[in-house]
Amino acid sequence: MTLSTRHLLGIKDLTAQDISLILQTAQEFKEVLQRPIKKVPSLRDVTIVNLFFENSTRTRISFELAEKRLSADTVNFTASGSSVSKGETLLDTVNNILSMKVDMVVMRHSASGAPHFLAKHIPAAIINAGDGINEHPTQALLDALSIKEKHGTLEGVKVAIIGDIMHSRVAQSNLYLLNKMGAEVVVCGPPTLIPKHLSEAFGVRVEYNLRKALEWCDVANVLRIQLERQNEVLFSSLREYNLAYGISRRLLDSLPKPITIMHPGPINRGVELDSDVANSDQSIILQQVENGVAVRMAALYLLSNRQNA
Ligand code: NCD
Repeated sequence: MTLSTRHLLGIKDLTAQDISLILQTAQEFKEVLQRPIKKVPSLRDVTIVNLFFENSTRTRISFELAEKRLSADTVNFTASGSSVSKGETLLDTVNNILSMKVDMVVMRHSASGAPHFLAKHIPAAIINAGDGINEHPTQALLDALSIKEKHGTLEGVKVAIIGDIMHSRVAQSNLYLLNKMGAEVVVCGPPTLIPKHLSEAFGVRVEYNLRKALEWCDVANVLRIQLERQNEVLFSSLREYNLAYGISRRLLDSLPKPITIMHPGPINRGVELDSDVANSDQSIILQQVENGVAVRMAALYLLSNRQNA
């Protein structure tokens, strides 16, 4: 089986079959990661450049590890300290790197659509590692794998996505994925952080009351307030946000059933999640990070197979 696309630009472009294939392949790679020698030769002689024009901890390390576990040759580029600050265009930067014979590009950029633009201009396969407020497909895939592991399926699972929906590429990719895979979704947050078009575009329910959303769901995927992407004041203070939308141990314990807590990181402890919730055994936040490596191995492997096909 192969993917229906040459690039992984967004979950929007994937079929349910593509998503299942990536998740199934990731499960196989997870077994490799349990072995004493966590390395396979699948991407030997494949050269990958990781282009990070925006800050990243988890995603960058996760891609780098995935590439190393697959025996690829990798080069890392971070925008700070590069010629981008000397005025070079994105296309020039990438064409220069490509003339050094690169097969795949993993890219994070603060401009929505940057990887889509590149895909039109260069021959290498591109994986989007987060573009502005648009998509973060490998995050949604690792979230899906984590939900599947915990709840056995995605079909019919009730997921509440909570917080700054408007500025979150993680929310958008999750919405596409969960819709395609038959999960039920509610988005929850202050009205100013939930775009009006969203409920129609995705057919999801909007719930402004946190307690009601938590009482309904099996899984709460909690997001950070993305202050760096907000150009205007959308709520009065982080303290007030915490009072209305922060998840505390007391709130969790008062729910009718135990729910699963997820977060893509970085967590702002004491704002969207209290520390004892993030660290509790209801939280699968570190399993998400673990699954990230296997999911990225799967995406890299399947896309490189597609290139050779
Ligand atoms: C997210 C991102 O960068 O989009 N983090 C991540 O990749 N794990 C979410 C965020 O920045 O809050």
